Amino acid sequence: MSAEATLVTARHFEYVAHRTTPEGDFLAQLKVAARTAGIPAIWISPAQASLMQILLKLHAARTVVEVGTLAGYSAIAMARALPPDGHVHTIELEDRHADFAEAWIAKSDVKGRVTVHRGAGLAVLPTLAADSADAAFLDADKGNYPGYLEHALRIVRKGGLIMVDNAFAFGQLLDEHPTDREVGAVRAFNEVMAAEKRVQAVIVPIGDGLWVGVKR
Ligand code: DHB
Ligand code: MG
Repeated sequence: MSAEATLVTARHFEYVAHRTTPEGDFLAQLKVAARTAGIPAIWISPAQASLMQILLKLHAARTVVEVGTLAGYSAIAMARALPPDGHVHTIELEDRHADFAEAWIAKSDVKGRVTVHRGAGLAVLPTLAADSADAAFLDADKGNYPGYLEHALRIVRKGGLIMVDNAFAFGQLLDEHPTDREVGAVRAFNEVMAAEKRVQAVIVPIGDGLWVGVKR
């Protein structure tokens, strides 16, 4: 073991998970309902949600842009970290996912603090003004991550937070023969992010690897 880093194993993740602020009944129920409705069971872990909420709070973030709403789990989690007049603008391509997310946002404690924008990320992002957000969370189709990042760098203010999900490519980042078709896109994006001079960024080994960056 090196003094610089502990090798994080599945047991560490389990240890962390059992000592993380619980997600609460509402988000647990949202997950059950999503599975029942046949919505892909894809959401951030409670530990990742906690980290993102802490970062948003430390940042005193008011406005957040998300690409990839899916069931709305992360949008609701992020909205909970904002002040009452804060807002999450979340973008979703699939109407079925947007319908589900809107229904659950409407009965959540952050109703009115989240807007679901329907359409492709690369179609909706250009409608958002420059320097209009304190933070962005990119979590949609991985092949478009470089394009989403370019927009995030325009929309997020200087000093703002840019988070990007799945840096570990669904656990297959270092696999010799990955089976998921998006692994190559994640690998390519990680190189883009690592070389990007306009952000200071680090991959936090939580969930499936979370890029956390600050716009210079
Ligand atoms: C998948 C996508 C995600 O953003 C994620 O966090 C986990 C899985 C997927 O496409 O399988
Ligand atoms: Mg993700």
